[in-house]
Amino acid sequence: MRLLEEKILSDGRAINEDILRVDTFINHQVDPLLMSRCAREFAVHFKGKGITKIVTIESSGIAPALLTSLEMNVPMVILKKQPSKVLNDDLYQTMVASFTKGTNYELTLSKEVISENDHVLIIDDFLANGEAVTGAVRLLRMAHATVAGIGILIEKAFQPGREKLEDAGFEVYSLARIGSMSKDQISFI
Ligand code: G4P
Repeated sequence: MRLLEEKILSDGRAINEDILRVDTFINHQVDPLLMSRCAREFAVHFKGKGITKIVTIESSGIAPALLTSLEMNVPMVILKKQPSKVLNDDLYQTMVASFTKGTNYELTLSKEVISENDHVLIIDDFLANGEAVTGAVRLLRMAHATVAGIGILIEKAFQPGREKLEDAGFEVYSLARIGSMSKDQISFI
């Protein structure tokens, strides 16, 4: 998507060959107009696929996911990262390892908000190694829901996330696909 690519070039900052800072329009401050244009793009792409819910992972996926849910007129569900403090039969939980941040977290979904009748579009800000989305898919499978596709704002195509998800049979639709980056150059596929 041209608009997002232009914003990445003007306001994004590659701090090295692996990490792109987008704090001024996605991760810290949010550009609402850009997010709503991205949401419209997801809604057009996934139109007619019988989507009943948008699922995202806190926290940076929430803005594009909420606007996509508004466009598609379906609810949004946020997968939480904090573990449940008590053993709770009403939750599905799975451990996710983040390579980029070097941390592990317990991804949590309440049984109350997803059912076997749901056909879900997963939306997230970055696709790197695909671990967060794979964790989301595990939770949705526990709920016997189905996955209609995966919408990503920025894919780092030099990392293995897309391949992992496509090998598992999922459609990945990314609005900006970065082929390579260095401190003073970002190139798109
Ligand atoms: P993966 O899910 O694709 O495997 O990615 P990974 O675990 O490696 O990334 C973990 C976190 O790092 C995610 O944020 C992801 O959005 C973020 N991330 C990955 N690559 C980049 C990058 O190049 N730039 C930026 N700004 N973030 C990146 P998170 O822990 O879920 O945090 P949040 O921002 O959603 O709260």
